Amino acid sequence: MHHKLLALLALCLTTFLYFGVPWRHAPISYSLPAGVTAANATLGFGAVLAVSRPQSPRREELLFAANLTGVEITIPLQPKWTDADVARLKADRGSKITRGSALAWLGHLNALKWYGNLNTVLFPNFQEARLTRVHRYRFLESGLETALILEDDVDWDIRLRTVEVPLVAKAFRKLLHSDATYWADLSQWEMIHLGHCGDIFSADKFKGMPHERFVDNTLPPLKRMHTKTQAFLQRLGFGEYERMIHRSSWPLCTFGYAVTQASARRISTELAARETDGGKQAFDVRTLEACRDLGYKCYSANPELFHHTEAPSEIAEVNQGTDEHGRLQAQSTDVTPNIACGARSKQFFTNDKATLDFLKMEVGEKGHCLLDEMEPDRSKWPWVI
Ligand SMILES: *[C@@H]1O[C@H](CO)[C@@H](O)[C@H](O)[C@H]1NC(C)=O
Ligand SMILES: *[C@@H]1O[C@H](CO)[C@@H](O)[C@H](O)[C@H]1NC(C)=O
Repeated sequence: MHHKLLALLALCLTTFLYFGVPWRHAPISYSLPAGVTAANATLGFGAVLAVSRPQSPRREELLFAANLTGVEITIPLQPKWTDADVARLKADRGSKITRGSALAWLGHLNALKWYGNLNTVLFPNFQEARLTRVHRYRFLESGLETALILEDDVDWDIRLRTVEVPLVAKAFRKLLHSDATYWADLSQWEMIHLGHCGDIFSADKFKGMPHERFVDNTLPPLKRMHTKTQAFLQRLGFGEYERMIHRSSWPLCTFGYAVTQASARRISTELAARETDGGKQAFDVRTLEACRDLGYKCYSANPELFHHTEAPSEIAEVNQGTDEHGRLQAQSTDVTPNIACGARSKQFFTNDKATLDFLKMEVGEKGHCLLDEMEPDRSKWPWVI
């Protein structure tokens, strides 16, 4: 008994040391809402796939965050893209795509087609089983009904699987009047944007827009959100800790989107097999058009559940808060926009197995942020006056 207690204390101490900064305030205790059951490791989808090239420096952090929060991520192997691949993707006339954007586009197509041979699997003990399973097929031939596709630099809240996804999925089933699957009737949707960089629209547009609104206490307070998100929610009359799922209006950025077998096929063969003539700057511009102009059945969780971690380097953009296409950009390098307690926070990162196990329980399972989310160092939140 004594031994166990000592071990626990030592563990806590190690954790304190790992966090570097001792807590100045008691950590906020967060209790998981009653009646909410955590989603399974693939968030109720057939699989969670990440678009990540083999040498991506972001992979380690992505997999760490997934491990911390109990999400099982599969990374389909990407071939080494050649100039010919890029050339094939480009429009014959008026191409606007840069090489970087073309490579990202090819990465998404690859995940949609999922050419087997995955080379990284979370949870080593599952590795063999998953490898065997996955080698046999591509996503489009996999029998998996749905997949959530993530970019490898996204962050999410530590309560993604335990609270947020269950709430969003429940609201979505209600919105579509369907309990057919965890994600409702699969014939009624083609993309669910769980991660985006701002699906922002006017109050007028909101009138008559199919949506389902709900309380979600895992959201950051309004004043801690990206200034544009804050203004948007207030325009719509949203109070604190309210999220919704709605028919998409302007879902820019493909940080995290769900597809079905049918929509994956449609997107990868019809919509975005290559850049359309006249030029499209990026894959996300094309999928935005699908949702906005081409009648694709798209839905967005708003505020988003996934957002890029990286802040842009150009100061002008940082100040303005958006890039030239209206994508919300991080306004600080330390926190991910609209995520209260990011699983990718540098303070969580550890290579120590015991510390990780402790964090998985406290942070991942119980939903305790430990980062003192309500009293952060204010200098890290430049948009808070
Ligand atoms: C999670 O739930 C979905 C939908 O029921 C299912 O297809 C998937 O296989 C489950 N994943 C795991 C890891 O059990
Ligand atoms: C996940 O965490 C466990 C410890 O709890 C560790 O053994 C394993 O290597 C981790 N996997 C990844 C991919 O980080």
